[in-house]
Parts: sequence; structure tokens; C-alpha cells
Amino acid sequence: METIDLSTYSRTVFFTGAGMSAESGVPTYRGKSGIWKDYDFETYACQKAFDSNPEKVLHFHKIRRRAVLDCHPHEGHRLIAGMPGTFVITQNIDGMHQRAGSQGVIELHGSLWRLRCDNCRMVKEDYNQEYESLKCDCGNWLRPDIIWFGDMLDAGVMHKVTEIIASCDIFISIGTSGRVWPAAGFPSLARDSGAYCIEINPEPSGATEYHRIIQGEAGKVLPELFITH
Ligand code: APR
Repeated sequence: METIDLSTYSRTVFFTGAGMSAESGVPTYRGKSGIWKDYDFETYACQKAFDSNPEKVLHFHKIRRRAVLDCHPHEGHRLIAGMPGTFVITQNIDGMHQRAGSQGVIELHGSLWRLRCDNCRMVKEDYNQEYESLKCDCGNWLRPDIIWFGDMLDAGVMHKVTEIIASCDIFISIGTSGRVWPAAGFPSLARDSGAYCIEINPEPSGATEYHRIIQGEAGKVLPELFITH
């Protein structure tokens, strides 16, 4: 495989989706064994569902937390974590990059390991298999701090991400179907800003912005692709 020396670039962005965690055992969202095949997002992953049955929605996310805790970061996560000075922007809520040691990961769609109260605005981290509590001290249900279907992305996070992508010179997209906006627009933002754009995916997304498409799995491709110093 033609290798890449990241030291020849000044600003590297790794942009990851569910496929990044697939070899760790975390199911993706779409495709034949995707989460949305077994679980209807209108019942489990939108504000309306939470408002009508918070316990059911919290239970669904508890099952996901348990499943993720049984999984572990792979070689690809570790390789990214070992490249200081690079940016990791992820759509994933599983915390796998952080478990591999990546610092400053930007979570576009929130985290399975954070809960918030929309009444008193409290936000708390909770890394346990079981939630510490389902309700806030103020009595309100705690809501997973995740961007669900129909939710707006956090404006501050979007601003930061847009700035980083618009100023990178290499953009490496790994394991995303590119079906969800605004993330689906990131490859074109990177390309229009002059970055060299790469996609790593066993079933490439079909996006036309990439200069190079590497058809393969993240855990296998990443360690072969980069020259490490
Ligand atoms: N390595 C790299 N890519 C892989 C691997 C792998 N081992 N296995 C699967 N893929 C690819 C698939 O081919 C697919 O293109 O990962 C992609 C997963 O796509 P989705 O399931 O749609 O996940 P993602 O793009 O991250 O979804 C975006 O949708 O439901 C929402 O909020 C959720 O963040 C999620 C968003």
C-alpha cells in the first residue's frame, strides 16, 4: 500500500464514524447488522420518544453502554491515539478513541457516558455499566447527552469543528456512510479548503470529494497506511 507520512502535513484531521468501532465489536447503525435494523429510532432515539417514555429510552441506552463496555479499542484506535497534534472528530458516542488514549476528541453527536438534565441544565459524566441515577437531584429525568434524530448539533461544537476542518491539509474519513448531516458535508468542506481527502471504508460511501479511497477495514488499513517516526 502507498504509505503516507503525516509529518509532511501541518494539520491532520481524523474524522470517524461507526465503522471505526466495528472491529471492536460495536455494531454500526446502518447495513445488515446495523442498530437501526433492530431498533426503531422513533421509539428509542429521539426527543419525542424520551418525552413519552424516558425509562424505555434510558434502558435502550443502558444496553448499549453494557455492550460497548464489553468491547475494546483496536490497533486503529491506538494508532490514531499515538499521533499527537492530530485532531480527532468523531460521530461516535462510544468513547472508544478516548479509551485508546486520544486526547481532545471532539464528539459531534455527544456521548453515551454523559447525562444531562434539561430542567436545571446539569450535565454529568457517568461511566458505570448501570446509571448512577435515572433522575436529577431536581427530580427531572436525566437524558443521555446524545444528538438524537431531529436534534440540533451544539453550535459551539459545530463552530469549532468547522474551523478545524477548514484549516486542515489532510482529512482522513474512516467508517462513515456519510448519510447524516451536517457531518456528511465535512468531506466537501475539507476539499474546498484545499485538504487532501482520504476515505477508509470496506464499502466506500460513494462521496465524490475524496482524492483517495482505500477499500478496507480501519483496523487493518490504518497501521499499514502511515509511516510512524
Ligand atoms: N472499517 C471501516 N469502515 C467500516 C468498517 C470497518 N471495519 N465496518 C463497516 N464500515 C463502514 C460501513 O461500510 C459504513 O459505510 O462504516 C460505515 C457505517 O455507517 P453508519 O452505520 O451509517 O454509521 P455512521 O456513518 O457513523 O452514522 C452516522 O448516524 O444514526 C446516526 O448518530 C448516528 O453517529 C451516527 C450517524
